[in-house]
Amino acid sequence: LEHRPLYGRHVLVTAGPTHEPIDPVRYIANRSSGKQGFAIAAAAAEAGARVTLVAGPVHLPTPPGVERIDVESALEMADAVEAALPADIAVMVAAVADWRVSRSADQKLKKKSGDGPPTLELTENPDILATLAKSAGRPSLVVGFAAETQDVIRYAREKRVRKGADWIIANDVSGDVMGGDANTVHIVTGSDVISLPEMPKEDVARILVERFADALPR
Ligand code: C5P
Repeated sequence: LEHRPLYGRHVLVTAGPTHEPIDPVRYIANRSSGKQGFAIAAAAAEAGARVTLVAGPVHLPTPPGVERIDVESALEMADAVEAALPADIAVMVAAVADWRVSRSADQKLKKKSGDGPPTLELTENPDILATLAKSAGRPSLVVGFAAETQDVIRYAREKRVRKGADWIIANDVSGDVMGGDANTVHIVTGSDVISLPEMPKEDVARILVERFADALPR
């Protein structure tokens, strides 16, 4: 089993959305099924890695051999990522909510006639990817995702530099990607753009994991 490409390595993956509470029964969220992140965690485990999967609220089974840590909010996800370090590879696939409600209510907000809707004050969430990429315990390979509907490669290149990631996987979400089983991605590194044809998310995951293994220092 030692011959497997990620044997002896620790791979950290974030996946799914985050839920930012408004009150005990309401939340703000991004649209994400978690399928691509879970497929990457599964492929990394098949490649022999120890895998920690920090998962937002999704309806997916835990892939075999993967240690899953369930979280709800971006702040919980940030803490779980930090606690999971050190790692050789970090793949941040989660669709983290950019904002949280500054003061979420302990009790359900009531709809009173005449009051009108409440005003929500929002606070920016930490950027988990950028924080990790700039941290002292930075994994050797830090990979982010960028879901875009237009100019996917240009935005991905900018995001790679701005966030300090090694690679950005640019995800063309102009079609039926969200919640679907297929994906079209471009691997944006410091020197290349490798465009893959549309294929099942499991196949995207296997190809990415092979490339991650090749990119690691021996
Ligand atoms: O800026 P944008 O949200 O498009 O960047 C997407 C990438 O950054 C993804 O890899 C996502 O997991 C990561 N991200 C993060 N923490 C945030 C926002 C995005 O880790 N608060």
